[in-house]
Amino acid sequence: MILRRLHPGDASSVLAIEETGMGAPWSIAQITSELQVEGGLGFATEIQGALYAFALFRSYPPECELLRLVVHPELRRKGVAATLLHHGLAQCAHRGCRTCFLEVRASNLAALNLYAALGFCENGRRKCYYTNPDEDALLLHREII
Ligand SMILES: CC(C)(COP(=O)(O)OP(=O)(O)OC[C@H]1O[C@@H](n2cnc3c(N)ncnc32)[C@H](O)[C@@H]1OP(=O)(O)O)[C@@H](O)C(=O)NCCC(=O)NCCS
Repeated sequence: MILRRLHPGDASSVLAIEETGMGAPWSIAQITSELQVEGGLGFATEIQGALYAFALFRSYPPECELLRLVVHPELRRKGVAATLLHHGLAQCAHRGCRTCFLEVRASNLAALNLYAALGFCENGRRKCYYTNPDEDALLLHREII
């Protein structure tokens, strides 16, 4: 298992993982654009040439945001997301980011437990932020240095 940077050419592999885990997956164009934009920073977990997990950050020092995080169902509860997040946060810190923000569905207990275990704290709620189904977003943040 290796951790590596994502490139725009990985967009279709990222989409395939998105479709296993996110209710409203991004399009190839959105993923490609996020990997090309200034401050866009993506990481993947790869096994024998195939991607099994990814995390997309946007860094805008002194802050950064975790935009997407998905682990293929076959590889869950093995510490993959935690490892990806530690790595991504360290890379964002290296770029001068001090605080990481993210949004998560209020019912996403797997993600909420993960973020709590990594030291993220709730600092707000956006009512009915998500659609299909309608749901509040919890806003979390963590100091990363
Ligand atoms: C949330 C998600 C990324 C977690 O990935 P993962 O690789 O399975 O997580 P890890 O193995 O690194 O888990 C680390 C810790 O997070 C918590 N956790 C992870 N999955 C959990 C679950 N299903 N139920 C409860 N706690 C969970 C636990 O505290 C876990 O530690 P433990 O296994 O020692 O108990 C994964 O379930 C996923 O891709 N879900 C669909 C997409 C998604 O919801 N992304 C987040 C959007 S904000």
